[in-house]
Amino acid sequence: MPSFGIGLLGCGRISENHLRGYRHGDGLGDLGEIVALCDVNETLLEQQGTKHQVTTRYRRLEDLVADDRVDVVTVLTPPDVRTGVVIPLLEAGKHVLVEKPFAHTLAEAKEMVAAAEACDRLLAVNQNYRWRADTLKLKELVDAGAIGEVLGMHQLHAMWRDEGPGWRRTTDYLALAVMAVHWLDRFRWLARDEGASVYAATRSTGLLQSQGEDWAAVTVRFRNGVIAHMTEDWCSASRHKADTFLVDGTKGSLVAEGKLVTRYGRDNGDEQVHDAAGDFAASFAHSMQVLLEAIASGTEPSISGRDNLNTMALLDGAYRSAEAGEVVHLAHNGRPAAAPSERSLGVANVGR
Ligand SMILES: NC(=O)c1ccc[n+]([C@@H]2O[C@H](COP(=O)([O-])OP(=O)(O)OC[C@H]3O[C@@H](n4cnc5c(N)ncnc54)[C@H](O)[C@@H]3O)[C@@H](O)[C@H]2O)c1
Repeated sequence: MPSFGIGLLGCGRISENHLRGYRHGDGLGDLGEIVALCDVNETLLEQQGTKHQVTTRYRRLEDLVADDRVDVVTVLTPPDVRTGVVIPLLEAGKHVLVEKPFAHTLAEAKEMVAAAEACDRLLAVNQNYRWRADTLKLKELVDAGAIGEVLGMHQLHAMWRDEGPGWRRTTDYLALAVMAVHWLDRFRWLARDEGASVYAATRSTGLLQSQGEDWAAVTVRFRNGVIAHMTEDWCSASRHKADTFLVDGTKGSLVAEGKLVTRYGRDNGDEQVHDAAGDFAASFAHSMQVLLEAIASGTEPSISGRDNLNTMALLDGAYRSAEAGEVVHLAHNGRPAAAPSERSLGVANVGR
């Protein structure tokens, strides 16, 4: 298998997880190597370049684009800086891994998918929570039939999250786009189907310095009957962060909390506790590994941009529902998200 040259565009907060994850522990092994960094912010560029010993550092996108050693670029810019950097990279022949949320809008996401297909390049989205240790365990148990058919899911995520200066303070799309997009994608991953309708209610409480929504509830009804509900709360006065996920099935339930996943059977006493501890940075390397293997084998990665149009359609539907105060029905011609081993092409939801 070839070893790919990787460039990182954006040396802000999340670059640390990519730099650490790609290189440390098992990392990417022989699959790929970070060969260049790029950021318009020279201080961050120098800081991350020095810390992680990457000597090629660019301040201009054009210079990264022109570097022939770079085969694949990880885009770590804020969500509203996407098409303007991703499309030139694709046109220059680079494959691209984009951080979540895939795009600021569903229309921009579609534009990038079309560009990737026109350029015959692979475009993937870092939905790394699919590879977080608890989700890996949940997926393994659900796919093995440990709880029978999935009936419904609940996600409760509550914390105090007052952001410092930066794009999270000024964006109109906050709790849903920044955090809950992980849960929407996980709902799809475990339901193994696409959303039929979505209802959401959001509010901006004014308690935080950020202006976007900081309290949100979303209900998704999937075509196969699965109902998934989430609460994403950034301004809770509770003293500990709540992150609880529950899946009910015909034969049992799964609860993920902290580093444990517990399976409950329908008989009292039928309980199994599974360890779900893991290095979070490894989930970032996992996304890159999935993309590099897909490039090498000429297949569609399970986290492809086209697959992610279905996650973006849920996010877009939630915002439209919250604005209109109505259920949003999602048109689509899709098929379920691919299992990791299948790496098959997910056909996009064509909802607005
Ligand atoms: N997957 C996860 O778990 C996870 C966690 C945190 C953040 N993220 C995502 O990562 C992305 C970045 O978030 P962050 O917290 O690192 O943001 P950040 O603001 O800390 O960093 C963004 C960097 O991009 C640079 N940048 C902006 N425009 C640029 C351009 N045109 N060319 C080159 N550099 C440019 C900025 O100078 C900055 O250094 C967001 O989409 C965010 O949602 C994902």
